[in-house]
Amino acid sequence: MKHKVIVPDLETTIGTDVEVAAAYLRKGELVAVPTETVYGLAANALSEDAVLKIYAAKNRPRFNPLIIHVSSWKQALQFVLPANADAEKLAQAFWPGPLTLLLPSNNKIPPLVTAGSPRVAVRVPNHPLTIQLLELLDFPLAAPSANPSGYISPTTAQHVYAGLNGTIPYILDGGTCMVGLESTIIGWNEAGMAEVYRLGGVPMEALTKVLGTTPLLSTQLIENPKAPGQLKSHYAPHTPLYLGNVAERIKEWAGKNIRLIRFRQYHPQVPEAQQILLAPGGTMEEAAKNLFSVLRQVDQMKADVIIAEEFPQEGLGSAINDRLQRAQVQFK
Ligand code: TXA
Ligand code: MG
Repeated sequence: MKHKVIVPDLETTIGTDVEVAAAYLRKGELVAVPTETVYGLAANALSEDAVLKIYAAKNRPRFNPLIIHVSSWKQALQFVLPANADAEKLAQAFWPGPLTLLLPSNNKIPPLVTAGSPRVAVRVPNHPLTIQLLELLDFPLAAPSANPSGYISPTTAQHVYAGLNGTIPYILDGGTCMVGLESTIIGWNEAGMAEVYRLGGVPMEALTKVLGTTPLLSTQLIENPKAPGQLKSHYAPHTPLYLGNVAERIKEWAGKNIRLIRFRQYHPQVPEAQQILLAPGGTMEEAAKNLFSVLRQVDQMKADVIIAEEFPQEGLGSAINDRLQRAQVQFK
C-alpha cells in the first residue's frame, strides 16, 4: 500500500478580530500579529507544542531562539531574574516600543524558546491590536518575524500571507508596520557592560542618551548565536543585491536589467523607471518604514541585479545599512 503524503493545507484567514486571534492562541495554534516593527508569528510561549509549530512553519533552525512579547514591564518581570537598573530604565524609556531586552531567565520560559540559553529576550510591542491581545491572554507570546526563515521580514498582512498562506489559520491585520525594522536587541555581558546585539528601531544615539554611555556593539552573534557566521544570508531577496559603490556597480552591470534602490534622489545615470526611492519625503524614518516593502517589490521585477545606496551611518541609517548588508550577496 502506498503511503499517503500529508501536506499542511490550512485555510488562512486575514481579519481584525482580536478575540478570534486569542481563541486560536489558547488552542495552541499560530497567529501572525502586527507590531510596530514587523509582523510576528505568535504562539503561546509557555507551550512547547505550540512553539514547535513556529519553527516548523518558518522552517527555522531550532538553535535560533525567539523573543517573547508581553504587555508590560510587570509581566516581563515574571520571566526574568531581578533585572538591573539600566534594564528598567530602558524599559521605561522605550516600552511599548522597538527595543528587546536580553535578560537572565528564571527558567519559566521553556528552553525551546531560548534555545537553551540562560537569557530570555523580551519586549512590549507598540501596536494597539497586539497590546489588546496580550492583555486578553494569560501567557506571553513567543514570536519571530512572520516570514519563511531567511526571506525579507513582513510589514503588512499581505506580506505574511504571501509567505505563510496554508500553514497558519489566522493573520491579525493591523495595517502597515509604522517602524518597519525589527527591534534593537540589547543585553549585558559578563562584565556588566551593555551590549547591542542587533541594530533596529531604537537608534544607538537614543540608547546612549538614556544609559549615559554608548553601549558596545556586537551584532555578528545574533541570528545565529550558537554558530556565528554559519547562516549565509538573512532578509535576502531572490535577486542578487549589492550595496554601495553605486556608480561603479552601474558600470559593471552595463547592458543588464538593473534596479536601483535609492534614499531620496534618483541617480542621474539610470532611467527613473528603474529606480525606487525609499523616502521621497526625505526622512530616515520613512526610509525604514518602506525598506522591506521596497525590497519585496524590487524582487518581483525579475531584474538581473539590485543595487542599493548606502545610508548615512547615523540614527536609523545604521540599522538600514545592517539590513541591506545582510540582504546582499555574501562573499564567502
Ligand atoms: O521587532 C522584532 O524584534 C520582531 C517582532 C515580531 O517583535 N521579532 C523578530 O524576531 O525580529 P526574530 O526571531 O526574527 O529575531 C529575533 C532575534 C534572533 O536573531 C534571535 O537569535 C535573537 O533575537 N534572540 C532571541 N532570543 C534570544 C536569546 N535568548 N538569546 C540570544 N538571542 C536571542
Ligand atoms: Mg527574523
